[in-house]
Amino acid sequence: MAVLGDSAGGRVKAVRDEAVAQAVRRGLTARPKRLPPWLFYDEAGSALFERITELPEYALTRVERELLRSHAGEMVRLAADGERLRVVELGAGSAEKTRLLLAAAVAVQGGVVYEPVDVSVTALEAACARLQAEVPGVETRPVVADYTAGWRPEACEERTLLTWIGSSIGNFEPGEATAMLARMGAGMKAGDGLLLGVDLGPTDCGKSVEMLLAAYDDAAGVTAEFNRNVLRRVNRELGGDFDVEAFRHVALWNEAESRMEMHLESEREQRVRVEGLGLEVEFAAGERLHTENSYKYRVAQAEGLMAEAGFWPVGRWVDGDGWFALMLGRRAGLRRFAQGC
Ligand code: AVJ
Repeated sequence: MAVLGDSAGGRVKAVRDEAVAQAVRRGLTARPKRLPPWLFYDEAGSALFERITELPEYALTRVERELLRSHAGEMVRLAADGERLRVVELGAGSAEKTRLLLAAAVAVQGGVVYEPVDVSVTALEAACARLQAEVPGVETRPVVADYTAGWRPEACEERTLLTWIGSSIGNFEPGEATAMLARMGAGMKAGDGLLLGVDLGPTDCGKSVEMLLAAYDDAAGVTAEFNRNVLRRVNRELGGDFDVEAFRHVALWNEAESRMEMHLESEREQRVRVEGLGLEVEFAAGERLHTENSYKYRVAQAEGLMAEAGFWPVGRWVDGDGWFALMLGRRAGLRRFAQGC
């Protein structure tokens, strides 16, 4: 397997530490206070997220996996459109669901090049080692990078299928997500594809607001621990003295913005020191620290967002309950636009 260089890992870590410090300083001095959701995913947070995906209340991951299990072959064939595909994945994590897509690509075309992009060297190594062992025919080319910070795929001879699944898009403002996808598209060719996984919002017949609330505030309290872990991370990495138990997990549905929100609510008036930043922060009793937005879309909205970023919707797969959608977009050729229809 491709071995990731230590120097690359070290460099990425230094840049990462600086980004963490900056994000925490910015967020804790902002009004209202906030922290970006990518801060959840240190080693402990990533393990907690894996547990969330197995909770009875959190259907998102299971439904997406079932869609991939049932339709990966179709997705690959439609994306390839007779050519040979390589798969580039944004935020690959454990790549546990992507393996279904890769196995389908191997079945269709005999083998496949897989380029997972992730900030976590350990996650990339583990994912690539497992894939090499369990899906013969996959050639892994891991990329250690922060895809939100200027990275984009390099055009290559094979047709690219860029995957952004798991509803990671939900953590971004819609405008931010569009701009990011447009930037990715600038590194891609006409005919290349985008496979986007989107968690759908509450509808009359499908998902209820109650279900959404339960998915982000489970009975076993795993999501509450996941949320509070961001404070533990500040304590660990930046010498903070957050009294983690003095913050209550709050999950709410913001109807006007069509998003789930997570907050940490200070149960009393308190002062927190973050030694590593030379920072002291006051919390009033009941004051909230906003830690996550998780946008929920309608299928048509998500397709509009894709089209705005330059990917024409050519396929969509939705589960029978209307909870989750995987959609395939194709990058249009500029020449075809210029010639008109
Ligand atoms: C990984 C961003 C899709 O928004 O549902 C899970 C993260 N937050 N429980 C989501 C999350 C709370 C998750 N995403």
